[in-house]
Amino acid sequence: MPLRSHLSVFFISVASAFVFCSPSTVSAGSQPLRSSSFSVALETLQKHINYEFNNIGLLRRAMTHSSYSEENNKAFSLLGESIIETTVSLRLLTKDVDISSKDLSDRTSEVSKVDTSCAVDGTRLGLQNVVRVSSNTNSSTSSVVCGAFRSIFGAIALDTGKVDDAGKVFLAVHGGAGGGSLSMDVMN
Ligand SMILES: *[C@@H]1O[C@H](CO)[C@@H](O)[C@H](O)[C@H]1NC(C)=O
Repeated sequence: MPLRSHLSVFFISVASAFVFCSPSTVSAGSQPLRSSSFSVALETLQKHINYEFNNIGLLRRAMTHSSYSEENNKAFSLLGESIIETTVSLRLLTKDVDISSKDLSDRTSEVSKVDTSCAVDGTRLGLQNVVRVSSNTNSSTSSVVCGAFRSIFGAIALDTGKVDDAGKVFLAVHGGAGGGSLSMDVMN
């Protein structure tokens, strides 16, 4: 009897030593793997938007939600939203200089709207699988995907120092592969 209980204490100690060791082994191994898969995702994303960053750190930040880090895409997203609206307004006015301000405003906000357009474009690009969020944040929600989508254009403008370049990439991405509901109107 005493021998058996000694044995079980021994096995429990061995088992817990193993459990104690394994987390550090796992995290040491998975840390570089995780960051390299993020880098691979950024490479793929650049191909999908047909734009290669001079400063990849800008795209890295664009794909970082505020739940994940202090260095996040909130401000990029704001710039991106205004680039999208400016680009679409210019497009619509170029096509029809007599467009009413109400039409212009309605159609511009339609293209930059979170649920109907922005999140659709972002989801089509697969941003829900790229953007970094905290473990208790759902990266597939409209606001996360839309924020990441807008941030791409803020990041491109910062990368080139020109709003135009970002607008061109937006029109190509939005109009490509079916685009949003208004893409035909805006693109043609
Ligand atoms: C995450 O959000 C998406 C889109 O809103 C939803 O379809 C999905 O069920 C959510 N997943 C979880 C685990 O809450």
